[in-house]
Amino acid sequence: MGDPEMNLSVQIGKLTMQNPVTVASGTFGYGAEYARLIDLNLLGAVTVKGIRLNPVPGNPTPRTAEVTSGMLNAIGLQGPGVDGFIKKYWPFLKELKVPTIINIWGTTVEEYAEVARRFDALGGVGALELNVSCPNIKAGGAQFGTDCTLLAQVVAACRQVTTLPLITKMSPNVPNIAQLAKAAEDAGSDALAVTNSFPAMAIDIHTRKPKLANITGGLTGPAIKPIAIKLVWEAAKAVRIPIIGMGGIQNADDAIEFLMAGATAVAVGTANFYEPQTPLQVIAGIRDFMERKKIGDVREITGSVQLPKK
Ligand SMILES: Cc1cc2nc3c(=O)[nH]c(=O)nc-3n(C[C@H](O)[C@H](O)[C@H](O)COP(=O)(O)O)c2cc1C
Repeated sequence: MGDPEMNLSVQIGKLTMQNPVTVASGTFGYGAEYARLIDLNLLGAVTVKGIRLNPVPGNPTPRTAEVTSGMLNAIGLQGPGVDGFIKKYWPFLKELKVPTIINIWGTTVEEYAEVARRFDALGGVGALELNVSCPNIKAGGAQFGTDCTLLAQVVAACRQVTTLPLITKMSPNVPNIAQLAKAAEDAGSDALAVTNSFPAMAIDIHTRKPKLANITGGLTGPAIKPIAIKLVWEAAKAVRIPIIGMGGIQNADDAIEFLMAGATAVAVGTANFYEPQTPLQVIAGIRDFMERKKIGDVREITGSVQLPKK
């Protein structure tokens, strides 16, 4: 299929992806759930749902709601904890031909580091993605990802305990993503993921109740795409490390837009819920675009947006 000379592979730190398309954490289970629906080995990498040290029951239902051009979720970072993940999901993931990116989180700097250390010791993990959009219980609930000092502490603590590629997943809820991106890079992050979901709320006007039991949740899907594109563009200007862009990608055109804004790779999220083939359609569409535009290497697209001359 296509020109064999064409290069679609990209580097995320020392992680090589055979193409620039992964899936967004939390929208693809732990990979195995999607194995009957798509060939996982065609992806650039499989990114799994967030894991903290101990199991997490998650929030009460309803915890998802459809909104115009997107969805709200408040899953509550449900998960099996490190041991549960290793026992239940790792035997399947470690046999895949493509790397696994494990999304991790904690409520203290020490917990992030401990989870990172455990996955480093496991062997065979492709990369760790740090979800820093979580409250720090030792800092009055402030999100790690919204404060340069806290963010740097988390990244540096993980950096100390692992040589695995570290991808810092940025919170969008910040006045200046450039500063935070730079803080993550300076603390030793190998890459950034931009962006996580946006805080949001929806109300059922007939019952007058919030549509989520948690009242508020995270907005994802096409509704956030132009905001995410701007965040990627701003972060890319601030750092030298690669960026995985995400937010509302539904097709190859959306993905190419993220690459042009400065992303090296992309992740498909919410679209997996209604069309599990989306990541593979995006890969095929990028290849097709490259053929039509005579682009030999996907890396040529990264940051190729042409800005008006001032
Ligand atoms: C149901 C759901 C669960 C999610 N869980 C996580 C998670 O565990 N960790 C994380 O870093 N991001 C999580 N996210 C955010 C996504 O990884 C992604 O950043 C976001 O959905 C934007 O991409 P999209 O618009 O293509 O969905 C979740 C998103 C959704 C919709």
